[in-house]
Amino acid sequence: EKGGHEYFMLKEIDEQPTALADTLRGHFAGGRIVLDEQRLSDQDLRDVDKVFVVACGSAYHSGLVAKYAIEHWTRLPVEVELASEFRYRDPVLDRDTLVVAVSQSGETADTLEAVRHAREQKARVLAVCNTNGAQIPRESDAVLYTHAGPEIGVASTKAFLAQIAANYLVGLALAQARGTKYPDEVAREFHELSAMPDAVRRVLGTTAQVQALGRELSDAKAVLFLGRHVGYPVALEGALKLKELAYMHAEGFAAGELKHGPIALIEPGLPVVVVMPSPKGRAVLHSKLVSNISEIQARGARTIVIAEEGDDTVRPYADELIEVPAVPTLLQPLVSTVPLQVLAAEIARSRGYDVDKPRNLAKSVTVE
Ligand code: F6R
Repeated sequence: EKGGHEYFMLKEIDEQPTALADTLRGHFAGGRIVLDEQRLSDQDLRDVDKVFVVACGSAYHSGLVAKYAIEHWTRLPVEVELASEFRYRDPVLDRDTLVVAVSQSGETADTLEAVRHAREQKARVLAVCNTNGAQIPRESDAVLYTHAGPEIGVASTKAFLAQIAANYLVGLALAQARGTKYPDEVAREFHELSAMPDAVRRVLGTTAQVQALGRELSDAKAVLFLGRHVGYPVALEGALKLKELAYMHAEGFAAGELKHGPIALIEPGLPVVVVMPSPKGRAVLHSKLVSNISEIQARGARTIVIAEEGDDTVRPYADELIEVPAVPTLLQPLVSTVPLQVLAAEIARSRGYDVDKPRNLAKSVTVE
């Protein structure tokens, strides 16, 4: 049942190209993005003047990634909030607010309560969910299903990538309804998304290299993760995976924050994973990160760099270079997250831990 894999998580990492393809399938027809159920009309989408994404854990990170795309495509303000914080604040909501509730299980208590709160305030709620008929989609105005298939490993992998893809479909549907993107631009974005299953398949070719690195790092006391722009939530996700699977202290930072505190943590031998943006995309982001890496390397950190294939400028600063295919900037999280999943799983495995069932964690958190 694990299809020749030692753990479900490794099988699920390998299933990510299929999870993405299945999640995108059928959502572009007749030259338009189509969501699952048209319970939210085009008029409803046109009226939206603010978007909240509410979720927990990895699903929250998928929202942080989506914020960059949705704001860019729609020019709507997007706030991403932990469901457990959202519901105990007094968020400003009305009928023109779209709340996107992202949940693999569809049963997470805090996310469900956030949905209930949003609906009481008359906001429109769209669930992004991987489980047919779960409570969160049942209580939402509309649902967009991710088709990652059942995820057995407690740590989310394929559901996380599928959540990013689904959140992007929501963003494109909003851009289309609002006219902030021309139909041919929406079509082009969808086309680029559709190329991601192949890109992820190619990243899976780095698995053996990343596993060898994981074995080398199994005795590390801590690992830091740095990124900028969409690479920042990827850094947070990489750190979360390592904490939950390898029980290792791990933290993700926005690279721009380095000088505001975290650089004090850098000491000789400390592994620091850096998620590089494309050198061809935002050149300024790229050069800022190169200077961040040179600073941490100068202080003796062991730099592990996830960078685009052929990015030679970064090579001198990378003690270990993991190359991922060139993809458009907003889609980079779909490739750069994958080696971080493999890394966490392998560190956990070499420390003798159960990769599929980390201690103290449940697959679906139905208590608050
Ligand atoms: C991390 C992980 C959790 C979940 C979180 C939300 O690997 O799996 O952080 O992402 O518990 O779960 P769902 O998406 O079911 O609401």
